[in-house]
Amino acid sequence: MPAGDHDFVVVANRLPVDITVEPDGALSWERSPGGLVTALAPIMQKNAGAWVGWSGSAGFEHEPFDGEGMRLWPVPLSEQEVADFYEGFSNATLWPLYHDVIVAPEFHRTWWNAYVAVNRRFAAAAAEAVAPGGTVWVHDYQLQLVPAVLRLLRPDVKIGFFNHIPFPPVEIFGQLPWRRQVVDGLLGADLVGFQRPGDASNFLRAVRRLTGMQVRGPQVTIPGRWSRPDRQVRAQAFPISIDATSFDELARTPAVLARAKEIRKNLNNPEVLLLGVDRLDYTKGIRHRLKAFGELLEDGQLRVPEACMVQVASPSRERVEQYRQLRDEVEVTVGRINGDYGTLGRAAVHYLHHSYPMEEMAALYRAADVMLVTSLRDGMNLVAKEYIAARSDLGGALVLSEFTGAADELHQALQINPHDIDGTKATIMRAIGIDPREGRRRMRSMRRRVLQHDVQRWADDFLGYLAMSAPSHLEHA
Ligand code: F6P
Repeated sequence: MPAGDHDFVVVANRLPVDITVEPDGALSWERSPGGLVTALAPIMQKNAGAWVGWSGSAGFEHEPFDGEGMRLWPVPLSEQEVADFYEGFSNATLWPLYHDVIVAPEFHRTWWNAYVAVNRRFAAAAAEAVAPGGTVWVHDYQLQLVPAVLRLLRPDVKIGFFNHIPFPPVEIFGQLPWRRQVVDGLLGADLVGFQRPGDASNFLRAVRRLTGMQVRGPQVTIPGRWSRPDRQVRAQAFPISIDATSFDELARTPAVLARAKEIRKNLNNPEVLLLGVDRLDYTKGIRHRLKAFGELLEDGQLRVPEACMVQVASPSRERVEQYRQLRDEVEVTVGRINGDYGTLGRAAVHYLHHSYPMEEMAALYRAADVMLVTSLRDGMNLVAKEYIAARSDLGGALVLSEFTGAADELHQALQINPHDIDGTKATIMRAIGIDPREGRRRMRSMRRRVLQHDVQRWADDFLGYLAMSAPSHLEHA
C-alpha cells in the first residue's frame, strides 16, 4: 500500500472538530472541547500530524482538509452504519459489556459485521495517511480491530492503542461471541494502554485465557510465522487526565468567579449546594445519587431551601433505547423529589438537560460545596479532576465513587460505594460538615496530583513507551 505524508496519525471515532456545512457547500468548524486534542496539538504540529475520525453526521463525506494545525481526515459513516456500528455494536454491545453489564449487552451479528467493516475503513484511512515508519495512535473501544488491520496494511508503522473505558474481567468479556477477534485486533498494536492497572491485567488474563499466547508481566509474545520473528506487545495503565493548568486558570478568572456568585444567588444562596455533572449515561449512577439525596430530604437530614442540588445531565446517545429509558427514569425521579420537597420558587433539584461551555462548568464547580461523582463504573471520570482543578480556593469537597479510575489517584476524596445508599448518605453528610481545615488539606493534596499529572504528561508517557517499543522518529513536544 502506498505510504502517506504524516509521521503522526491519531485515529479516533470522532474528529476533534464540530463541522458545519454552509449553504454554499463551504466547510466551517470549531475545535470540540476536550483535553485529548489540546494535549496532542503540539505533537501534531511538530510531526505533520493527521487525525482520522468520523464527523458525527451520517452521510458526511469530504476529502481530508487542513484545520487546527493538522490534517483532518473524515471517515464517512452511512445512516445504517451509525445505527449498527455506533449506536449498536459500540454503544449497546461493547459499552454495557465493558461497564459491568449494568444493562444487558445485546449481541447481534449484523452489528458485528458493521463493526468489522467500519474498523477496516478507519484502518485503511490511517494506512493511507501515515508516512513510512510513522506512528499511529488508535483510540477507544469503537476501534479495537484497527491495530491488527493496520499492521497487515502497513507493517512498517508503530501502533499504539489506548482504551478510554474499563476493560472487563474475562468472565464478563468472555460473553462476547467475537472475543477472540477483539483480542487479536488489539494485539496488532505495539502498546495497549488502559486507565487502571486492573484493566490492563484483565486484558492480559483475557489474552492468556483466549489465545494461549505467552504472557510475562506486561508483555505478550506473538509468535512469528515463516520468516517473521516473534513480536512483543506491552499492556499497561496510563491514567488519562485533563488540561489541568488551563482549567485552573479559567476557574480563577473574574468572569468565572462572578458567575459562580451569581449562580449561588440565583439559587437563593443556599447553605449547601450539591452538584452532579454527567453525560446522561446509566454508568454514572445518577439514579443512585438522586435516591440518596431524596432520602436525606425525607429523613430531614437536609431541608430545602437551605440545601439544593444542581444536576447537569448532558444529552448523550439519545437514539439508544437504554439511554431513552434512563432519561425517563431520571426525569420522573427529579419530578417526584421536587414535588415532595420543593416549595414555590425553590426546587430541591435543579435539573439541566444541556451541555454547557467550559466557562459555565468552571463557575458551577466554584459555586458547589459538594461535588457528587457516583459512577457505577467509569474508565476515569474527568469531571472529578475538573472539579479539583477548579478549586484553587481549596474549598469544596469531592464525594467519589470507588468504581472510577479517578479513585485510584484521588485518595483524599471521600470515597463511596454508590450501591450502598446508606453509606453514600453518610458520606454526603460528612462532606457537608467537613472541618474546613481537613477539607483544605484534602483538596491541596488532590490538586497536587491533578496539576502534576495532566493530559500532556499522560500523552508524553504513552508516546514515550511507544517510542521505546521499536525505533521511531516521532518528535516529542
Ligand atoms: O469515554 C468514552 C467516550 O467515547 C468519550 O471519548 C466521549 O467523549 C464519550 O464517550 C461520549 O461518546 P460519544 O462519541 O458516543 O458521544
